[in-house]
Amino acid sequence: MQPLVKKIKERVNIVDIIGSFIKVDRSGINHKACCPFHHEKTPSFFVSEQRQTFNCFGCGVKGDVVEFVKLYEHLDFKDALRYVFDKSGLPESDWQQNQERSSQDIKADLDKKEAQDIFEKVVNIYHEYILHKDNGNILLYLTNRGLKIETINIWKIGYSPNTWQFIETKINSTLLEKVGIVKSKDGKRYDFFRDRIIFPIFDIQGHAIAISARIVDQGEPKYLNSPDTILFNKSETLYGLDKAKEGIRKFKYAILVEGQMDLLLCHQEGFNNTVATSGTALTDKHLQMLRRYTNNLMLLYDADKAGLNATVKAWSLALKYGFEVKTAVMPEGEDPASLLLKDKKKFMQIMKNATHVIDFVISQSDNKSRISTKTSLEKIIPLIASLESSIDKEFFSKKTAEFFELSLDNINTELQKFSQSEYRYLDTIDRTIDKNESHDKTKYAVIDKALAEFKSLVYIYNQQLNTQVKHSESQTFDSDTTQKIDSYINEYKASDLFKLQQEYIPDLNSVFDTIDVIDEHIIFNFENIYTQKKVDLDFYKQEVDISYKNFVQKIYTMIYQEIQNKLKKAEIIKDTNLIHKYTQDINILWQNLKK
Ligand code: GTP
Ligand code: MN
Repeated sequence: MQPLVKKIKERVNIVDIIGSFIKVDRSGINHKACCPFHHEKTPSFFVSEQRQTFNCFGCGVKGDVVEFVKLYEHLDFKDALRYVFDKSGLPESDWQQNQERSSQDIKADLDKKEAQDIFEKVVNIYHEYILHKDNGNILLYLTNRGLKIETINIWKIGYSPNTWQFIETKINSTLLEKVGIVKSKDGKRYDFFRDRIIFPIFDIQGHAIAISARIVDQGEPKYLNSPDTILFNKSETLYGLDKAKEGIRKFKYAILVEGQMDLLLCHQEGFNNTVATSGTALTDKHLQMLRRYTNNLMLLYDADKAGLNATVKAWSLALKYGFEVKTAVMPEGEDPASLLLKDKKKFMQIMKNATHVIDFVISQSDNKSRISTKTSLEKIIPLIASLESSIDKEFFSKKTAEFFELSLDNINTELQKFSQSEYRYLDTIDRTIDKNESHDKTKYAVIDKALAEFKSLVYIYNQQLNTQVKHSESQTFDSDTTQKIDSYINEYKASDLFKLQQEYIPDLNSVFDTIDVIDEHIIFNFENIYTQKKVDLDFYKQEVDISYKNFVQKIYTMIYQEIQNKLKKAEIIKDTNLIHKYTQDINILWQNLKK
């Protein structure tokens, strides 16, 4: 671990920092909370003050305080570290001293910072320009569409004139090209956005990082968007999230719309929990970002866009992430923006009557003919299959069966068929969780687990011996615990059993290489089980011994199987020498087991 990271972590308490984001309660020796990274109603997210770590039994996320801030606030490591640094009370000089990074990193950082500043400037120039006296017609167009000047200011909406070098003459920087504002052709540089209404897109911290530019009034293409740049990644950005996050937390749901104008009017009219995907499909990243604020999504669509295949895919993805997904569809010919302006009451009525997406799809199918039923089921089955809760699954299966006058068995068969074909698709879902199964330990998994349990119990026993909380580095045991584990392992290594193991399963030795490495998951588990009970030290000591015996027992079994296999082969080829040797070794094994 970097010295600075260590220093920071010694100064802060993970319980306080996590507690400042989500509600945590004491539970025995640890703290627990509802996991902010997946949907749950009963807490399976634990925080250890002693080890300064967190671990979720539901979805598997784990790590230290910096990792938590990184995931929760969607920051990169450095920014997360800086956040925690600011809480640590360490002097700024400690941070500065640590900035000895490679010149490449520094250059990339500076470029990004500079690009950020330039983008901000560009956005301000366009914004000032829309207020220029020559552009009354542009402002008029926007105000006719219902935008107030205040909204135009808050969202820094602008106008790019119909000339080729407007920005070019105002800012002189090669970075303009890198951030998608200027293009070049045959050595000539020119502005990318011309004669368009400029809607800046902001990142979650509120920095402008891209532009979505609408044509004034009518024409093609209606929107011209920034390409992906060093500042902007389309699939990771939700328009308006920076201004909507508080609203989403407050209202406990997020409204999702498709259009820029829809988003702006929703915010303007008080629905400040609205975000927009601005032209791309809803991605995993979008959903992961939203999941930090709410489990409830309300999707607002124009009549012609709801229920399309691409839309249904996005719903299914959202259900897989555990969101409760409702849809509200605008009346024919209206979009959320136009309806809000025309008839806010009706808009609210439609929101109030929003239905679960599955109910919506069912209701879309107005006739029960064989063909129509089949096309509807093609959409409904994937949605039901995506539901996380088995109660929801049963509920909607029954509903679907009833509506289409089919048997529940039939629906279940279809669901099964679908799930089987679905594995590939599921694999593509990029969950943030690192399952940490990179190296192949399957062969010795049983022994590994027994060893990890034993080590963890030694640790817990020590914890009970010295009740005072000491902060340790998260990845390894303190020296006291390691020493104790070592003494047991040395005892094992002095035994006949070890000699046999050396001979029959020599690569098992590798499990001893990382004796001081913590398996947090098991520790949290034991802590939850044991430290709730009022038991004395002897009890813990006994558990340690039992778990050690269990570990040794597992090794016995494995060696025994190994020798048995060899014995069988020796019998087949009738090699009497080998048969004799193996039989003898099995005898030694039994002798030792009796001890
Ligand atoms: P108006 O109500 O017509 O002003 O537009 P809108 O903002 O409501 O957009 P609309 O509902 O037509 O489209 C939804 C979103 O899809 C827009 O906000 C854009 O982000 C995107 N979009 C629409 N048309 C185009 C296009 O021609 N090109 C690109 N790249 N994106 C588009
Ligand atoms: Mn629209």
